[in-house]
Amino acid sequence: MTITTCIFDAYGTLFDVSAAARRAAAEPGRERFARHWPAIAAQWRLKQLQYSWLRAVMDRHTDFWSVTQDALDWALEAEGLDDDADLRARLLQLYRELDAYPEVPGMLKILHEHGKTTAILSNGSPDMLASAVASAGIGAHLDDVLSVETVGVFKPACAVYDMVGARFGCAPGEVLFVSSNGWDVAAAADYGFATVWVNRAGEPVDRLPGRPGVLLDDLSGIPGLAA
Ligand code: LAC
Repeated sequence: MTITTCIFDAYGTLFDVSAAARRAAAEPGRERFARHWPAIAAQWRLKQLQYSWLRAVMDRHTDFWSVTQDALDWALEAEGLDDDADLRARLLQLYRELDAYPEVPGMLKILHEHGKTTAILSNGSPDMLASAVASAGIGAHLDDVLSVETVGVFKPACAVYDMVGARFGCAPGEVLFVSSNGWDVAAAADYGFATVWVNRAGEPVDRLPGRPGVLLDDLSGIPGLAA
């Protein structure tokens, strides 16, 4: 089936989630944080994902911005840096202005030139996604930005993947779903999307229902796959 619609996960796929901590660590006066930032960035991301899955299972949804703050508070306390309110505020500010990976704008532009529909499908809340898209300057190359807040449950619930067909009127087999999160790709493949796992970190394939269709190191090969 021809791919008509290319759907992208946001955090970790289009936007570099470690950029907030990396940039803060390079700022003057943050020497203490600079010693801890890789652990804090990793724990922040892990807790953010765990809290999203746990809240879905517990049927206790709150938006991703709240989850992101809760996860940061856990990570800062775990590293003994929960006494620095200025650091907390700065990390959250930088999270709303994450760097897009360098190949992202050009890749989206080519997809549009080839007549493909392009959109984000993310756990992110609408305001944090709008901020990240604006700061990365990629809004002109996206047909829509879909947030799970529409359905009130996080990925990998099927209700989230259902949003693509509901919005664009396409069958699952016409959709190329792209994510750097192995668990997201597994669920999307199980749902019936064609999938790409952008495995930037060289991780093993997740042992879940659904296997990634194609593995890439970065996003530059996407237009060739969707042609
Ligand atoms: C997202 C997270 C899962 O953007 O990366 O949905």
